[in-house]
Amino acid sequence: MTLSVTKIGNTFVGEVEGVDLSKPLDDQTVEDICQAWWDNSILVFRDQDLTQEQHVAFSGQFGELQGHTVKDWLLPTHPEILVLSNRGRGGVKPLENGGAYWHSDISYEAVPPMGSILYGLTVPPEGGDTLYADMYAAYETLDDETKALIDERMAIHNYKHRYMMMAKGDKRPEPTQEQLAEWVDVRHPVALAHPDSGRKALFVNEGFTVAVEGLDKDESDALLQKLYAHSVRPEFVYAHKWRPHDIVMWDNRCTMHSATPYDAETYERTMHRTTIKGSPRRQAAAA
Ligand SMILES: [Fe+2]
Repeated sequence: MTLSVTKIGNTFVGEVEGVDLSKPLDDQTVEDICQAWWDNSILVFRDQDLTQEQHVAFSGQFGELQGHTVKDWLLPTHPEILVLSNRGRGGVKPLENGGAYWHSDISYEAVPPMGSILYGLTVPPEGGDTLYADMYAAYETLDDETKALIDERMAIHNYKHRYMMMAKGDKRPEPTQEQLAEWVDVRHPVALAHPDSGRKALFVNEGFTVAVEGLDKDESDALLQKLYAHSVRPEFVYAHKWRPHDIVMWDNRCTMHSATPYDAETYERTMHRTTIKGSPRRQAAAA
């Protein structure tokens, strides 16, 4: 199997052709995809036709899979799959505006995922895009003063505030005592050294970062707002316009993403996501 990877414009995204992800992949092909993933941070595969088993099998070739703290969104038959659907497909509760804010998946856990693999099943004809931001570029283009301020500094991430905020406008179940006990503060470097490449990426996001340590609340809020605005400058952002049967896989440690609005009354948007566990960061980066 010969795959080809074409960079999409002047971006950090590669489109991969020449591979059928429903079939078992030989070692060389998996290695080639991994290499393309490190080279690009985000990979796009068009016109893939996968069963749930095949989606899980493909994803499992890149590491152990993880579920989600909200079990209501996991597919009962394949709990490795998170269902993002405004229609609540597969016996899963509907999620009307999940992911419509800038975030890195599950950054609120001690070991954030390596990446996610999202499969578009039913997509609206307009809107419902996914925007991705290149957080390597975001870090590397900061001025020296800001780098000096954030290097070696830690940020606090937590899921609870986001869940409760989204629950106000969404049909989210009340959190259980078990979930509330799970949703504790975790600390990550503001500038995270990628565990594989060693390159630093900005690792704060609107979704789950609640504060920067060592600053008072006003300073912390101002710094975070400045970093968020910088991260999503147009030159760092790729907008993925979904077609049915697209697969997008992204490295979660050096990108963040956000879904754009769409007419959820009229259109269905149903996607399946698998998530690959990350590895603990190097202690040198933890400071
Ligand atoms: Fe996400």
